[in-house]
Amino acid sequence: MEKIAFRPSRDEAARQAFVGALKGFVNFAVEGRLQAVYDEQLVPAAKAVPQTRAEAAALLEPHPLARFWASMTYHSQNLLWQTIDATTARTRDAQMALAERLTNRPGKRGTLHLQPGFEPPAPVRTTEIHRQPGGYLRETVPGDLSAALSYMGSVDLYRNAKGMGTGAKPGADDMGRWLAGVARRRAPDLQPQAILDMGCGTGEQTLGYKREWPDARVVGIDCARPFVRLAHALAEGEGLALDFHEGDAAATGFADESFDLIVSIILCHETSAAQVRAILRESWRLIRSGGLVLHMDVPYHPHRMPLVKQVTNHWQVRHNGEPFWTGFVEMDMAGELQAAGYQAAFADYEPFGAAPYFVFGGRKP
Ligand SMILES: C[S@@+](CC[C@H](N)C(=O)[O-])C[C@H]1O[C@@H](n2cnc3c(N)ncnc32)[C@H](O)[C@@H]1O
Repeated sequence: MEKIAFRPSRDEAARQAFVGALKGFVNFAVEGRLQAVYDEQLVPAAKAVPQTRAEAAALLEPHPLARFWASMTYHSQNLLWQTIDATTARTRDAQMALAERLTNRPGKRGTLHLQPGFEPPAPVRTTEIHRQPGGYLRETVPGDLSAALSYMGSVDLYRNAKGMGTGAKPGADDMGRWLAGVARRRAPDLQPQAILDMGCGTGEQTLGYKREWPDARVVGIDCARPFVRLAHALAEGEGLALDFHEGDAAATGFADESFDLIVSIILCHETSAAQVRAILRESWRLIRSGGLVLHMDVPYHPHRMPLVKQVTNHWQVRHNGEPFWTGFVEMDMAGELQAAGYQAAFADYEPFGAAPYFVFGGRKP
């Protein structure tokens, strides 16, 4: 069966590989040099050693290397979208036609639930996250899948260039399968019958949960309509039975205690603190006795990062489409879980290749 995929031509793939390498160079070599300049030149020459991110930023941001880093970060992001969107524009109509066939195929295996009149929550509705042109909701023709194709093409490139990915090619399910392993370690006796992936995006990782637990009912929910449409077609092309819902993870409408594993991958740092709190409450409402809630997100807590990294991350919050990187990690997650009623709660780091990820949730007694 034909499968939905982000399909760059050879030239486009070469350009995308160049952008990945450029971003890797900026994120590691240039940022590493920035740290050395800060430690070896700026701090020794300062009146007092900076103690806070704001003090470190005041010292660092005027330096020419910091300006070069900022410029390269910004322009490599522009290049990312230029190269990715070129593939999307060339392949969109064929992929949309394929998605249409897969979605309307008699005897299809899974389901797609769209909510007419649904208003996606901010910031997804109001922000071009990652500076993706038009954001996650871009629709220039009815049923437009271009935002989803571009997200699909960019996400692994973006993660890998930050040393936060598996090295996987677009479309791989490695991250979800890794999180399934974390769930197994944290709840070895749990055999989930119903799994919910909150903020499932374009569904690649959601498919991973179905491959890990083929007998479970696997549901993905996301507030970006183009994403769940694509996710549904992706699952159908793979011959996997999953259910995808357009909706708000903070107010899903699913019945109380209807899932025994609830997961998310990098959902919470793309929402406001108020929404994170609502998502925590909703997850606890939906999880059955014995079930596990396992959210996974960015590992950028200030106490674990040098001040220079805090400064560069906060620059990306202000200028590079990452509105909540620092706000999210400034939340006291252990306290938030307690306030949301969680028991057997955890808010820890889990090793993941060179970089760990932050995982938080709880197991309902
Ligand atoms: C960074 S993406 C991650 C997608 C996917 N989990 C992955 O690993 O690629 C975050 C996703 O969360 C979705 N999202 C953000 N806020 C949401 C909300 N309140 N309800 C449902 N989905 C939400 C976005 O539309 C986006 O698809």
